[in-house]
Amino acid sequence: MRILEWSEAHAVHVPEIDEEHQQVFRLCGDLQRALMAGTATAGVQSIVDDLVIHAAHHFSHEEREMRTTGYPLYAWHHRQHHTARSRVRLLVRRIRRGDRDAVLELLDFLPAWLNDHIRLADRMLGAYLRNHQRELASGARVVAWRTL
Ligand SMILES: [Fe+2]
Ligand SMILES: [Fe+2]
Repeated sequence: MRILEWSEAHAVHVPEIDEEHQQVFRLCGDLQRALMAGTATAGVQSIVDDLVIHAAHHFSHEEREMRTTGYPLYAWHHRQHHTARSRVRLLVRRIRRGDRDAVLELLDFLPAWLNDHIRLADRMLGAYLRNHQRELASGARVVAWRTL
């Protein structure tokens, strides 16, 4: 199984979000390497735990950004996160019971899901957030000129 890696095609050009995506892809790679190296179950589970924590943190981060900036496609984007969360939660439950096949299913699912989701939904969000940031900055400049 070839695990997808983060590439420029996944860049949303919002540094914190890009870093979080890179980290999640990196952990998927670590998990695959651990499986291939025959790492003991406890070692595999600790990477899975790390992966789940980073993914959960990342989804919450994007959702917070969407809410605070009034992103109009919040419901659509959130639904996609919800689908991934539910799938990952079920797989993690099986992994905690020692089911190695569920680790393979997680590796089959998550990087491919991320690839599709980032390339469309997250890139749209990235463009919106950058635009929002620019508007805030130009609003601040107008206020500064008026107070001159
Ligand atoms: Fe997202
Ligand atoms: Fe994302």
